[in-house]
Formats: sequence, structure tokens, C-alpha cells
Amino acid sequence: MSEDPPYVVALSGASGSVYGLRLVSALLSNRARVLLIVSRAARKVLHHETDFSSYPSLPAFLLDRGIDCRNGGLVKLLDPDDVAACAASGSFVHAGMAVAPCSMKTLSHIAAGNADSLITRAADVALKETRKLILLCRETPLNLIHLDNMRTASRAGAVIMPACPSFYSAPATIEDLADTVVYRVLDHLGVENVSAFRYNP
Ligand SMILES: Cc1cc2nc3c(=O)[nH]c(=O)nc-3n(C[C@H](O)[C@H](O)[C@H](O)COP(=O)(O)O)c2cc1C
Repeated sequence: MSEDPPYVVALSGASGSVYGLRLVSALLSNRARVLLIVSRAARKVLHHETDFSSYPSLPAFLLDRGIDCRNGGLVKLLDPDDVAACAASGSFVHAGMAVAPCSMKTLSHIAAGNADSLITRAADVALKETRKLILLCRETPLNLIHLDNMRTASRAGAVIMPACPSFYSAPATIEDLADTVVYRVLDHLGVENVSAFRYNP
């Protein structure tokens, strides 16, 4: 029996690395396989937002969060510069891609069709293959270039999902707050999520 196709999760260098990490964890809770791409700028953000610098490597940091990138694990870490990786080809089938968080730079490259890295190439491919592409855009305030790029990417088929957490579920921790966004990403990826708070007054 063939395996279910994996999800592609990319962390770019916007603030909010917690979104990408929580998304991968949630997918793993569902026993989904994940192809994970972390841009060079995203690593810098990890230094600022987490205790990443106290780990010898990215795989060691991820493993401590239950994200196992070792051989045989559910997560495969892809080199952001490797435009020859599987996710760079339309013939490679995946279940959907999320860029979480998505920087304005990565958004601009996607909107322009500038497939200069594995993240932007995989996003370009997702759009041409009409696969789900979710962009968890994060910047504030937004200038007209950002807004135009969101409009262009949306017209090309991307789901523009600003990293705007909600508060009506009374989140107690940063992770709970991030999950208010991550759970909406799971909904759009078609991943069952029994933990999600559902507004139903
Ligand atoms: C701590 C930190 C926070 C950042 N936050 C944002 C952000 O919220 N949004 C954004 O568009 N760029 C942000 N940047 C800038 C991006 O990292 C920068 O534009 C980078 O070139 C993006 O590269 P990438 O899209 O290839 O990952 C941040 C950078 C740092 C170091």
C-alpha cells in the first residue's frame, strides 16, 4: 500500500517561527509526513525567538520539540538552497504546502514567480499544479507593495492567511495563541483537528 503524500511546511524569516513549529507538531500528531524547509533568515529568527542557539544543530533543536528529522522519522528536512529536491518538481505529489511564517520577501518572490530557492520554487510549483498553498504572511504595517503582492498571489491561487491570532478562545500561553492561527491552517489543508476551538455560541 502506498503512503499518504506528505505536507510541505516552509519557515521563512518573518517573526513567528512558533507558527511553523506548531504546525509541524500538529501534523505529526495526525501521523502525517512533513517535508520541512527552513530558510537561512528563518534560522536567524529562531535565534531571536527561541533557545535555538543552545543546540548544536537544527535537527537537534527540532528533535527536542518532538520533530524527528532523522532517517525513518516522519519529517524530512530539506536544504532551502536545493532546488533539485523533490518538492521542486510538479511530478512529486504532496498534500499541500504552507509557508508559516511567510516573510514579505518570500511573498514578493512567490507573487513574481521568482523561484530562486526551494521555498519559492515549491510554492511556484504548488500554484501551477493547483495544489493548496497557504501563505501565513507576517508584517505590520503593510505597504502597498505587500498588499499588491498578496493580491497577486491570491489571484494565482494562494490562500493569504495573515498571522493574526484570535483571542476568543482565551488562549493561556503563546503556543495556545499561535494555535488559534495554526488550527485554521489545518482546516485549509484538510487535516482533521479535534483539538481546535470552534466558535459555536
Ligand atoms: C528577528 C527578525 C524578525 C523579522 N521579522 C520579519 C517579519 O515579521 N516580516 C518580514 O517580512 N520580515 C521580517 N524579517 C526580515 C526577513 O528575515 C528578511 O527580509 C529576510 O530576507 C527574509 O528572507 P526569507 O524570506 O528568504 O526567509 C525579520 C528578520 C529578523 C532577523
